Amino acid sequence: MTKDWTPSTWRSKAIEQVPDYPDPAALAETEKRLATFPPLVFAGEARKLKRALGEVAEGRGFLLQGGDCAESFVEHGADNIRDFFRAFLQMAVVLTFAASSPVVKVGRIAGQFAKPRSSNSETKNGVVLPSYRGDIINGIEFDETSRVPNPERQEMAYRQSAATLNLLRAFAQGGYANLDNVHQWMLGFLSGSPQAERYGEIADRISETMNFMRAIGINSETHPSLRETDFFTSHEALLLGYEEALTRVDSTSGEWYATSGHMIWIGDRTRQLENAHVEYCRGIRNPIGLKCGPSLEADDLVRLLDRLNPNHELGRMTLITRFGHERVEAHLPKLIRAVEQSGHKVVWSCDPMHGNTITVNDYKTRPFDRILAEVKAFFEVHQAEGTHPGGIHIEMTGKDVTECTGGAARPVLAEDLSDRYHTHCDPRLNANQALELAFMVAELVKEHHAGDRAAQVVNF
Ligand code: TRP
Ligand code: MN
Repeated sequence: MTKDWTPSTWRSKAIEQVPDYPDPAALAETEKRLATFPPLVFAGEARKLKRALGEVAEGRGFLLQGGDCAESFVEHGADNIRDFFRAFLQMAVVLTFAASSPVVKVGRIAGQFAKPRSSNSETKNGVVLPSYRGDIINGIEFDETSRVPNPERQEMAYRQSAATLNLLRAFAQGGYANLDNVHQWMLGFLSGSPQAERYGEIADRISETMNFMRAIGINSETHPSLRETDFFTSHEALLLGYEEALTRVDSTSGEWYATSGHMIWIGDRTRQLENAHVEYCRGIRNPIGLKCGPSLEADDLVRLLDRLNPNHELGRMTLITRFGHERVEAHLPKLIRAVEQSGHKVVWSCDPMHGNTITVNDYKTRPFDRILAEVKAFFEVHQAEGTHPGGIHIEMTGKDVTECTGGAARPVLAEDLSDRYHTHCDPRLNANQALELAFMVAELVKEHHAGDRAAQVVNF
């Protein structure tokens, strides 16, 4: 067990991004009640994810992590969850098949409700109100009552997470994710697009492979891995009172786990070594993500790794880098070298979303070509450094939204942004753009592997 740590030691540390609850007694009541609720995930599942990420850290596999920027209460419906899961499965199957690489599947879902904000207040037409901090804290509507942090929302978020996770488990384990269904995962509005055609080709080849295997006695009855997939959940552990209430001792190992999701991450704004968020995360045994932006210095990163993973446990740390498409070269190599030198083994994952946000026609958007450019630069740097480009972390939806501009299939133009701009926070890739990205990443992974093999040949 971690020394001098309990689920509440973070409370004595400096903290960023805390909501100002007007009624602390009501907040304490809610946290007390949450602490009696059942866990959302089990420690054994978090350990399984850690093992899978350990494989990725050693160069065997790829992490696909994605979902909404922020989940919302009003958009909580079966269609949204299914459409997301379907788009995500398409990406996963493209990556697995085209790149011949196992894919670790982690959603930003079933708990992704709290948002860090750059400013504590928002001004509209001269009216100043507290910023929206995510549905788990306050309401997005620009009026005084909505913006007051309300602890009851934590209970809503908990219950929504439970319902979402329940459906996702059913999809992942109950037959929907069966590889026999690859053709059915195609989304209606994609049909006719170049992405749909490319996907159709891969689906045909998978079906053919499945038919061949069936003929020789291997099928989804005899081999459950053909009909099931492991799907894990993740979110930013920002609202620590909520996280603390769901932190539980695992009876088999006696260790503390966050049971609000399988993996949690620390944001770029809350990763100060001596502050509350790092303190909370050091004591739980889940896999931890750490967002690494341009302001992160190499020696601070190593100090964070020493603090969060003192025993160099494999699969524990995923570094999610987010620099902006033109800044990868300037920042990533020095971080990689410092980590390599420290002896820490991590999963390197690329978040090509958060460093590429611009404003067009008053809409926050992200040009798709910049997103692709950041991913490419990420692969190039890892190729040059001899390290494993282990994953991507994206904001996406299964719907046909118009939030990020560009994309080859059906480009979203600046003037289209207002058509279907539904996000509660940052702009997400729509299903077409997400699939296009998956095809490109599959190519990059394949090239990278080919490079590995060439290197091995030279060594012999
Ligand atoms: N179980 C394997 C895996 O998760 C194969 C698999 C089953 C799969 N259904 C899938 C892969 C859906 C991707 C998408 O990798
Ligand atoms: Mn975001």
